[in-house]
Amino acid sequence: MPFNLKGRHFLTLKDFSTEEIEFLLNLSIKLKQDKYAGLRGNNLEGKNIALLFEKASTRTRCAFVVACVDEGAHGEYLAKNDLQFGKKETVKDTAKVLGRMFDGIQFRGFKHETVEELARYAGVPVWNGLTDKYHPTQVLADFMTVMECKGNLKGIKFAYAGDGRSNVANSLMIGAAKMGVDFRILSAESLFPDQELVEEAEVFASESRGKITLTSDVEEGVQGADVIYTDVWVSMGEESKIAERINLLKPYQVNGDMIEKTGNPEVIFLHCLPCFHNTDTEVSKQYPDICEATEEVFESRHSKVFDEAENRVHTIKAVMVATLA
Ligand code: CP
Ligand code: NVA
Repeated sequence: MPFNLKGRHFLTLKDFSTEEIEFLLNLSIKLKQDKYAGLRGNNLEGKNIALLFEKASTRTRCAFVVACVDEGAHGEYLAKNDLQFGKKETVKDTAKVLGRMFDGIQFRGFKHETVEELARYAGVPVWNGLTDKYHPTQVLADFMTVMECKGNLKGIKFAYAGDGRSNVANSLMIGAAKMGVDFRILSAESLFPDQELVEEAEVFASESRGKITLTSDVEEGVQGADVIYTDVWVSMGEESKIAERINLLKPYQVNGDMIEKTGNPEVIFLHCLPCFHNTDTEVSKQYPDICEATEEVFESRHSKVFDEAENRVHTIKAVMVATLA
């Protein structure tokens, strides 16, 4: 059944029903097929899209730009430091100005309240490209990849190992709860998600027949898993916590042993990326124990991380098309 999401913001998956999320995933799959078939889209012809970034980005920025071009829109990258935003001008005034000039606004930054404020005053759809609290466009790409690999989402055993209160973990938990997934967070207790958010997710899960489990026991958490997922142990803005996180999360590193413990030879490994999996980056050279996944797993046949990265384009395109076209 088609859903009309025109004019809606995309700030967190909490605001979308199971059927609406399903609709966005199916639209993503359709747009990917069209692109592969060489069919040029024009769903966003003549639209101007503001891409506002407070934090660094490879995938999200590029996915928005490519999705805009594929559908005939113009995407304008706006780095926070190049704007008056926050320094000489309030978020509210910036929202009103951008809303007069652009048809849609993507925001990536620190406080979730900023993207909410932009949405309140822009008068055009605002999409959350990551805040400290949520990363909802990422989860659409993650779920699309699971659908491609496993054929469905409902009933999938999805184990997230690592920082259980990261923006990605929070959004996965909400999305999983909406989509009837058996979702487990494996982490140190001090890094479990906020109790309030867990309670909200449990309500969604009870409606979709999903399940939310928080555990510090790796064996219990990965038992029978179809998907093992991890994110960095230290998110953007938390760099002072590197040593503490390595200590807490070392037992939750995704390695060959964890893959074996699932007992599922067809388990897939997902990661939002960027991922520390060797000592070839500036940061991992300095902190060799920061790797949340081993090279062995990252490069294994289980790893679908680059399909997942590509799917950022198709899912972000679907969000823009559904809310704007
Ligand atoms: N996964 C993700 O959001 O990547 P970027 O930080 O490169 O955008
Ligand atoms: N949790 C990570 C996700 C990066 C895509 C961060 O916020 O840095």
